[in-house]
Amino acid sequence: MFGAVGALLHPALLRLDPETAHGLTITALRLAPSSRPAPDDPRLTVAAFGLAFSNPLGIAAGFDKNADVPDALLGLGFGFAEIGTVTPKPQPGNPRPRAFRLPKDGALINRYGFNSGGHPAAHARLMSRKARGGIVGVNIGANKDATDRAADYAAGITIFADVASYFTINVSSPNTPGLRDLQAASALDDLLARSLDARDAASALHGRVPVLLKIAPDLDLAALDDVVRVARDRKLDGMIVSNTTLARPASLHHRDTAREAGGLSGRPLFGPSTAMLAATFLRVEGQFPLVGVGGISDAATTLAKIRAGASLVQLYSALVFQGPSLIGRIKRGLIEGLGSDTLASQIGRDAAALASQA
Ligand code: FNR
Repeated sequence: MFGAVGALLHPALLRLDPETAHGLTITALRLAPSSRPAPDDPRLTVAAFGLAFSNPLGIAAGFDKNADVPDALLGLGFGFAEIGTVTPKPQPGNPRPRAFRLPKDGALINRYGFNSGGHPAAHARLMSRKARGGIVGVNIGANKDATDRAADYAAGITIFADVASYFTINVSSPNTPGLRDLQAASALDDLLARSLDARDAASALHGRVPVLLKIAPDLDLAALDDVVRVARDRKLDGMIVSNTTLARPASLHHRDTAREAGGLSGRPLFGPSTAMLAATFLRVEGQFPLVGVGGISDAATTLAKIRAGASLVQLYSALVFQGPSLIGRIKRGLIEGLGSDTLASQIGRDAAALASQA
C-alpha cells in the first residue's frame, strides 16, 4: 500500500528541504494502513546471530530514530529494521539546517547530532508493537552531556532488552563530539565489557540479545586491528561496517554543499566502506557475522557488499533518491545475480582481493 503511494509522493518530497521531507515521510508511513510484506523467496533467507532473516536487506539506523514506523518499514519489504540512534534522555540535536542532499553524487551529508525522543518514548512504542514480531534492532548512543558515556549504552541495553531483536552500539557517529574516541582500544574494551554485562544480566528474563558494534569508515588499519581484537576477545555477536564518513572525495560535484560539516553517506561512501568491510572480514576470521552498509544503491552493490564479507546489508541514502520501489528491485536483482549459487556461498568471496587493492 505505502509502496504505491510512496512512489507517487517521492518526486515532490525531493523538492522539499531534506529534514521536512523526512518528517513527512515518517508521518505518511505512520498513517498508512499497515501491510504485511509479501513472503520472500526462500533463496534470500539468512541466518545470523541466532536470528532468521527472510531477506538480507535492512533499513539502516537514522531513518526511524524514535521507533515510529518499524512495522511500516518491514511492510515495505525490508528483512529487518534498525531503529535509533536513541539516547537515554531526550535531546534536540544540532540546529537546523542539518541535512543536505548532493543529488548528482547520490549522496547526503548530515549532522543531526543524535536528536532523540529518549529511551522511555521509544521503548513504549516498541512494547506496543512487540507481538507483531519481525526483526527490529535497537541502535543505542550516549547523550551529548553524559559524563559516563558507557553508562548510557548499558542503560539502553537494560531498558530495551525486552523488545530488541539485537542491539547496535553506535560509537561511530561523527556528530557527537568525542564519540568516535570510544573506538580506541581501552575505551572500547570498557564500553563492551559494561554493555555485555548489562546484556547478560537481562538475559535470564528476556533471553540473550545479540550485541553488534557499528564502526566508522575513517579508521586506519592499525585502529581496525585494535577494534577487531577487542570485539573478538569480548565475544561480540557482530559488527556493522560502516557509518558515514568525514572524508570529502574530490569526485563530489556539489563542491559548496560538500563543505557542510557532518557525515557523508550514499554513493561516494561505497568504495571506502566496502574496502573497510573486506578488511574487517579478513580480521574477524569467521568469529562473527558482519553487516555491510554504505552506498548500496542496487542489486550489484548489494552483492558486492556480500562478496566483500557481509552476511546482511543495510541502506539509507539510496532510499531517499530512489524511493521504496528500490527494495523490491534489489531483492529481485539479487535472485537473478545469484543464479544457482546460494547467498551464503558468496559471503567474503572477494574480501582478499579487495583488501590487497587497498
Ligand atoms: C545516518 N546514519 C546513522 N547511523 C547510526 O548509527 N545512527 C544514526 O542515528 C544515524 N543517523 C543518520 C541520519 C542520516 C540522515 C543518514 C543519511 C545516516 C548512518 C546510516 O545508518 C548509514 O550507516 C550510512 O548512511 C551509510 O549508508 P547509506 O546511507 O550510504 O546507505
